[in-house]
Amino acid sequence: MNPAPVRVAVTGAAGQIGYALVFRIASGQMFGPDRPVALHLIEVPAEKPMQALKGVAMELEDCAFPLLRDVVLTSDTKAGFQDVNWALLVGAKPRGPGMERNDLIKENGGIFTGQGRAINDAAAEDVRVVVVGNPCNTNCMIAMNSAPEVPRERFSAMTRLDQNRAQAQLARKAGVPTTQVKNALIWGNHSATQVPDFHNATIGGKPADQVIRERAWLEGEFFKVVQQRGAAIITARGVSSAASAANALVEHVRDLCTPTPKGEWRSVCVRSDGSYGVPAGLVSSFPVRADGKGGWEIVSGLALDAFLQRKLAASVAELQQEQALVAHLLG
Ligand code: NAD
Ligand code: LMR
Repeated sequence: MNPAPVRVAVTGAAGQIGYALVFRIASGQMFGPDRPVALHLIEVPAEKPMQALKGVAMELEDCAFPLLRDVVLTSDTKAGFQDVNWALLVGAKPRGPGMERNDLIKENGGIFTGQGRAINDAAAEDVRVVVVGNPCNTNCMIAMNSAPEVPRERFSAMTRLDQNRAQAQLARKAGVPTTQVKNALIWGNHSATQVPDFHNATIGGKPADQVIRERAWLEGEFFKVVQQRGAAIITARGVSSAASAANALVEHVRDLCTPTPKGEWRSVCVRSDGSYGVPAGLVSSFPVRADGKGGWEIVSGLALDAFLQRKLAASVAELQQEQALVAHLLG
């Protein structure tokens, strides 16, 4: 056992996702059963969320988790990010019914300049940052640009939830368990333009589009369900996804900490190096393989057919529009 706790900051820890997330981190599901954890729970400096945060801390105590070594509650970002090895940036306004995620850009974008700066100044030397608050790709770009001393490859944003959604839809259509579906990749933006890749995904080891031989379903309903799943959950629940988002975040971090199995990849939004025609500097979802030692690479050489290429171009155009909207926050 590594006796030093991994220090994990969670912003918005009194919110919906925060409540579904912190117990899973404290129980060892994110960093494994042998790694102690310390939680830095960060909220806005207002009475209600700070009071709620105290309640979360009381419940954490009441779980008597063997791995949980320390819990810091704060509304001060610098104190919150002090010496953390992971910064999970969840705290931001969620959208409501009828909104798109990038309608949040004006309200949420500014959060990530201050947090990026605080991470730059206070976090541990090996800090890794994951952005969940929407629109997460562009917010990740803002945080990255506000933390010039933190290497850019340490930043990512989350499309693991979309990957899981695509995997579940393909499995359901093919009538197989989800374990039969691999590499249900998402390209582009975590938005209604995201591109769930039915060609490079496999079902029982074969390309998904050779197992599900209904092109109209793949290009139509499958695409629509995955792209619109967040909105469908808001319509059904009245509030946005929380348990499935927290679950995806546990998996996202685990994916980056463990070697990706041979022949597989994971959907992670990372800074583009120009791969697959995505302009360098944009934070886009790509197929990523991790080496288990902190390194990762974008998988090269995957083929995208004309339909998927067209869809990716549309998602990239949307990322560029978002980038233009936050140009004043990019330093
Ligand atoms: P929520 O409203 O339940 O909780 C958000 C919490 O963040 C609140 O407690 C709020 O006080 C806090 N907060 C706001 N600004 C903050 C700041 N500057 N510092 C610290 N805390 C702050 O929302 P939620 O359902 O937990 O969702 C959080 C965000 O995650 C939203 O933007 C949502 O759209 C996004 N989200 C992303 C994905 C994804 O797949 N990337 C999935 C689900 C939700
Ligand atoms: C999701 O995909 O569920 C989240 O991004 C929340 C949303 O606004 O859709």
